[in-house]
Amino acid sequence: MEPASSIEHWQRVYAARSEEELSWYEPVPGISLDLLLTPSLQKDAKILDVGGGASHLVDALLDRGFTQVSVLDIAESALEKSHSRLAEKASWVHWIVADITQWQSEKKYNAWHDRAVFHFLTTEQDRRAYRAAMENALLPGGIVVIGTFALDGPERCSGLPVQRYSPESLSAELGDAFRWTASRKVEHTTQAGKVQRFQFSRFVRD
Ligand SMILES: C[S@@+](CC[C@H](N)C(=O)[O-])C[C@H]1O[C@@H](n2cnc3c(N)ncnc32)[C@H](O)[C@@H]1O
Repeated sequence: MEPASSIEHWQRVYAARSEEELSWYEPVPGISLDLLLTPSLQKDAKILDVGGGASHLVDALLDRGFTQVSVLDIAESALEKSHSRLAEKASWVHWIVADITQWQSEKKYNAWHDRAVFHFLTTEQDRRAYRAAMENALLPGGIVVIGTFALDGPERCSGLPVQRYSPESLSAELGDAFRWTASRKVEHTTQAGKVQRFQFSRFVRD
């Protein structure tokens, strides 16, 4: 049987390695910033990084003066890494430990970012639950940026199978409520020197 994407799996992964040792480590989240930071995104926009793990996106957003940043992850051990890295700035961030397929947001967001999380949802049931969480959390006009392995990207990550996407198949998966506005092809080089092909796409909730 395939290993399940579970709290235990992700807790173990983050407890066992430094952030620089993780294959998805990215010191500067350039494409994410490029797609997220549209001129209409105000500094007090509510931004959620879904499955943010130990990502440096939160650092980059705080450095740019964004005041309402939330980071959600299934693994508390991942968020603890960002928390220690940010030191006193950690108190400016809203940290959420939750499984996105079971989460019901208490507030509404202007922007939803996901780098390499949605592609782990390999069952229709989990994808439906993710979409429901996104629809519930995002304001009309809100921005969605999702980065997944591309069709010619890896078939697995962190020992788990993934579902790969093109911008078109991701758009079809999200449905008509999310209007596609931009995509980028990205090659991420892991610390071990492997090249992984991603697609990043931006949508607007109509
Ligand atoms: C490949 S890592 C990417 C982390 C981060 N987005 C980045 O770019 O560095 C996948 C992340 O998704 C989180 N994750 C996996 N399944 C999840 C779920 N169902 N709900 C919330 N987070 C999840 C993991 O704990 C991990 O931090």
